[in-house]
Amino acid sequence: MKQLRLDLGARSYDILIAPGLLKNAGALIKEAVSPSQVVVITHPTIRKLYGAALESSLKTAGFQAQWIEIPEGESSKSLEQAGAIFDSLFKMNCDRKSLLVALGGGVIGDITGFVAATWLRGVPFVQIPTTLLSQVDSSVGGKTAVNHPQGKNLIGAFYQPRRVIVDLDTLKTLPENEFKAGLAEVVKYGVIEDADFFEFLENNAEKILKQDPACLERIVETSCAVKALVVEKDETESSYRMILNYGHTIGHAVEALTHYTDYLHGEAVALGMVYAARLSNKLGKCSDEVPKRIEGLLDRLGLPVKLPKLDADAMIESMGHDKKAVANKIRFILVQKLGAVEITSDVPFDVLKSVLTD
Ligand SMILES: NC(=O)c1ccc[n+]([C@@H]2O[C@H](COP(=O)([O-])OP(=O)(O)OC[C@H]3O[C@@H](n4cnc5c(N)ncnc54)[C@H](O)[C@@H]3O)[C@@H](O)[C@H]2O)c1
Ligand SMILES: [Zn+2]
Repeated sequence: MKQLRLDLGARSYDILIAPGLLKNAGALIKEAVSPSQVVVITHPTIRKLYGAALESSLKTAGFQAQWIEIPEGESSKSLEQAGAIFDSLFKMNCDRKSLLVALGGGVIGDITGFVAATWLRGVPFVQIPTTLLSQVDSSVGGKTAVNHPQGKNLIGAFYQPRRVIVDLDTLKTLPENEFKAGLAEVVKYGVIEDADFFEFLENNAEKILKQDPACLERIVETSCAVKALVVEKDETESSYRMILNYGHTIGHAVEALTHYTDYLHGEAVALGMVYAARLSNKLGKCSDEVPKRIEGLLDRLGLPVKLPKLDADAMIESMGHDKKAVANKIRFILVQKLGAVEITSDVPFDVLKSVLTD
């Protein structure tokens, strides 16, 4: 088992990574928290797949878990759904020592974290992420949120889990397109922070796609380590944490203009990373090799690398509305070389437009 520590003083926690961890989850939870009761929040499909294993391990650790099921999909990340969960917690007499367990992907993790941050002004929660995206990204770092009709993740809190338990075996049942979408964020960590890791991904792309166990462990561990390093330096995203948004400025515009239906988030981020690298190159920040290698790797991992036919002006306008744009200046993460990026709000409009229309 790989064990990483995210060091945030009193809010520090461990990230545990291995195949088969679900059957020890009860004991691993007990090491970190002493709850009065345990409530698992999940989707019905995930409960069917993994509910029995988690329930029996909780039982072995002395917990009789209660369950809250919410429908699948991004539309569940709403205040209404959070309200329904609060109703259930009230009926279950959840006190401040009750533990919430998020069993599922980023949707489950984000709403469970948000509910944990706000119920009784904060109850402990543990993440058991079951998608690659949630294992390498959303379960680590303490961003929790629900969506507002006017925008994604507008209502939320920074609130750290007590532990993150990553059972790599859960990826076996994940649809292939969801797995590949998670790989986009994995590639991102190589680009922003770790050139050797990027090279490892290039050398092992086919094994990774086959979910070779040793490769999986390495990519999840390294991704979590990079994310932890960034979050430790800037927990609440005052500046440095923004490097995690590499590929997301253009990616978010693609998602918005295609009404969140044509691309999974990771697929849009793959496109965003390719075009942000080309932009970096055009602005003289990096060599020609950088965008080529990023595009080549993403392509081999089965991710999209060519923008669909979208109006460039509409894309740029959409980027200006991103909640992370400061005073209508669009913020970009540009690549200097593999493993090193910079944050800038000074991208000339004409250069951006030419990259998007190339
Ligand atoms: N908090 C953060 O830092 C952060 C970072 C990135 C993304 N996010 C959020 O994460 C969400 C996306 O998360 P996601 O990509 O995990 O999507 P998701 O949670 O919607 O899961 C994708 C689909 O896979 C299914 N699934 C999950 N695990 C499975 C498994 N092991 N086997 C079979 N099916 C499984 C789910 O039921 C769902 O249908 C978005 O809401 C996004 O805003 C948050
Ligand atoms: Zn992302």
